[in-house]
Amino acid sequence: SPTAPPSSVRAGVLLASNRGPVSFTRGEDGHLSAKRGGGGLVSGLSSISGGPGEIVWVCSALSDGDREAAERSPGGRLDRSGLFDQGAAVRMLALDPKVFDDAYNGVANSTLWFIQHLLYATPTNPSFGPEFQRQWTSFEAYNRAFAEALAEEAAEGAKVLIQDYHLCLAPRLLRDLRPDLRIGHFSHTPWAPPDYFSLLPDKAAAEVLEGMLGADRVCFLTRRWAEAFADCCERVLGRRPGAHTLRVHGLGVDAPALRKRAAAADVAEREQELRAAIGPNRQVIVRVDRTELSKNIVRGLEAYAVLLREHPEWRGRVVHVAFAYPSRTDLAEYRDYTAAVQRLAKEIEEEFSTPELPDWRPLIVHVEDDFARSLAAYRMADVAVVNPIRDGMNLVAKEIPIVASAAGGACALLLSREAGAHAELGEASFTLNPYDVNATAAALHAALSQSPAERAADCARLAELGGALPPQSWFADQMDEL
Ligand code: F6P
Repeated sequence: SPTAPPSSVRAGVLLASNRGPVSFTRGEDGHLSAKRGGGGLVSGLSSISGGPGEIVWVCSALSDGDREAAERSPGGRLDRSGLFDQGAAVRMLALDPKVFDDAYNGVANSTLWFIQHLLYATPTNPSFGPEFQRQWTSFEAYNRAFAEALAEEAAEGAKVLIQDYHLCLAPRLLRDLRPDLRIGHFSHTPWAPPDYFSLLPDKAAAEVLEGMLGADRVCFLTRRWAEAFADCCERVLGRRPGAHTLRVHGLGVDAPALRKRAAAADVAEREQELRAAIGPNRQVIVRVDRTELSKNIVRGLEAYAVLLREHPEWRGRVVHVAFAYPSRTDLAEYRDYTAAVQRLAKEIEEEFSTPELPDWRPLIVHVEDDFARSLAAYRMADVAVVNPIRDGMNLVAKEIPIVASAAGGACALLLSREAGAHAELGEASFTLNPYDVNATAAALHAALSQSPAERAADCARLAELGGALPPQSWFADQMDEL
């Protein structure tokens, strides 16, 4: 290819994910500025050694700024200066916007995400007609673009780690282009059982599984999701992957880095603001999510309303702090869900606010993304609610106890048995059936009724478990296995 880098700067380690580690925005002064993203993979990178040119991260250009940056640089490969300690380069793929929309919004988020999180209401949805056919063709093209970019960037025998459902076809396509590479695929989502996975058209279902099996290692966050994948392979392809192919790598929090971030001045400032809004001598129930259908925010808020109705003794003595940050707002289902969350929040405020308790706000909701404010809420949490319908892992469940205990508090965790994190944290949590609003309300009551001393041992245990599998070792273990 005319854009391929010379072999001297080809990479020995490559990452591929839809959302990359950096995003570009054009400032008022007209300059494009790069912002480093958070997240486990970015911190995991710090554990890799290697000189410049050693690591290349291939991702999609998502914003207008990204597109501009990618189109300006040869092959879309952006400078390696300063973004990462180890000097990784980023290659952004600026695909045709229609192809990208079909692949990301149509197939990845409206179809595969819905399948893996059991989100369809099946009497009407899904329905795979001609529109899906077109979207699937775009999804194949999107995966091919990643495979081709990786094939161009990779040195002989390089290790390639491909992330998530967006790129489930890429391992097989890359294997065909470059049989010399060592390829891993990692799913950060849950995996659906065969009866549900088989809602997909047969050809697409087989392509997803065969696509992932093009990797040397197919990795999941928990044994449960790995086994569901193997069950789907057996049902759809008539064969199970071998033990060497199917791997489990749990992912936890970089606890020292998180504690340091939570001790910063901007977090203290937000904490003061939140404390003023909450008032003295009140327990704090905290939840922090993307406004995401699978996070089950509506049932969580309904459970809080049931608590206040059935146990009026908590009125005035507890405040629910619920942060629901915008996500995937291109999709109508997400916009509708956001509206449903906001409607219910308003109803709760109207039902329970009373002139008898003029300084009590039963519910404090924020929808603008602000990590410092999330950390401030973590510091104050007496009870944390993590009740997803399904979740690959859920790092909030791990972060809150780490930050709460570092702040000298102790919080109880209400955790859905359908979150991957439950396999690790279940022993020290209140286990939830995410569909059971009454039982969730009862668990809230039980957790609020505990004394801080009663919570302390479980909170300390949760903090320890949450930091047990830091991103650095998660990444290094996968590199070793490849
Ligand atoms: O694995 C799920 C994931 O892709 C994560 O990277 C992240 O939690 C979330 O989904 C983000 O989704 P999006 O990139 O669509 O905002």
